[in-house]
Amino acid sequence: MRTWFTDYVHTFKFVDRGMQQNIDLKEDHTMRVCKEILNIGAQLRLNDDELRLAEIIALLHDVGRFEQISRYQTFMDSKSVDHAELGIKILKQFDVLKQFDDSIKELIFCAIKYHSKPSLPVDEKENCMFFSRLIRDADKLDILKVVTEYYHRKEGEKNGNIVLNLPDTPGISEEVYRNLMNKSIVNIEHVTNLNDFKLLQAGWIFDINFQPTLDIIKQRCYLEMIREVLPEIKEIDEIFDFINVSI
Ligand SMILES: [Fe+2]
Repeated sequence: MRTWFTDYVHTFKFVDRGMQQNIDLKEDHTMRVCKEILNIGAQLRLNDDELRLAEIIALLHDVGRFEQISRYQTFMDSKSVDHAELGIKILKQFDVLKQFDDSIKELIFCAIKYHSKPSLPVDEKENCMFFSRLIRDADKLDILKVVTEYYHRKEGEKNGNIVLNLPDTPGISEEVYRNLMNKSIVNIEHVTNLNDFKLLQAGWIFDINFQPTLDIIKQRCYLEMIREVLPEIKEIDEIFDFINVSI
């Protein structure tokens, strides 16, 4: 499966340095998410079959990103296509899961489909929900790594697609403030600038499913790194005070 993935990704080649960076970014992200999911899974004492399944989901969860960026030059689903659905379409088209029974195929597609939704449905099968929760946690861990490194990087070497090319304007949107103070997940639709985007990521703490993931976020100080690159305004202090007493 890894060979298929690498070969598939390498069909996307660009002379444009920025475009090639976008492809490399998602390939590297995928490889790290595979490691993160195995790490969380091992701490949850999953058996070998479950770990393998988790790793396959991680390997394939963002397969739609490559065609998305190539076709639309953006990672913003609302401005292009649902990258999870596109990924499932590609996996079916290449019959990547041909060696598996229908029930396993369905489980993998299900976890991929829900990995990027704002929230999980309530009426899905338990095993699908379990693996969806797992990939959501592993994915968030690596996105937090990528964005915190990005926020702390010097000017001049920045790929704006990481932050969806959002404008770095002052202030935050009221909707985002209200969502976070209600412990709800910030909907990407309410994100209007870079500050909102940073707060959305801080708010992921309310959408973490497993204790080992939460422990890793704390160990790696991701929340502190996000706070450091946000302005010193009252609303943001309130949000972080609230987050810190909630976790
Ligand atoms: Fe991802």
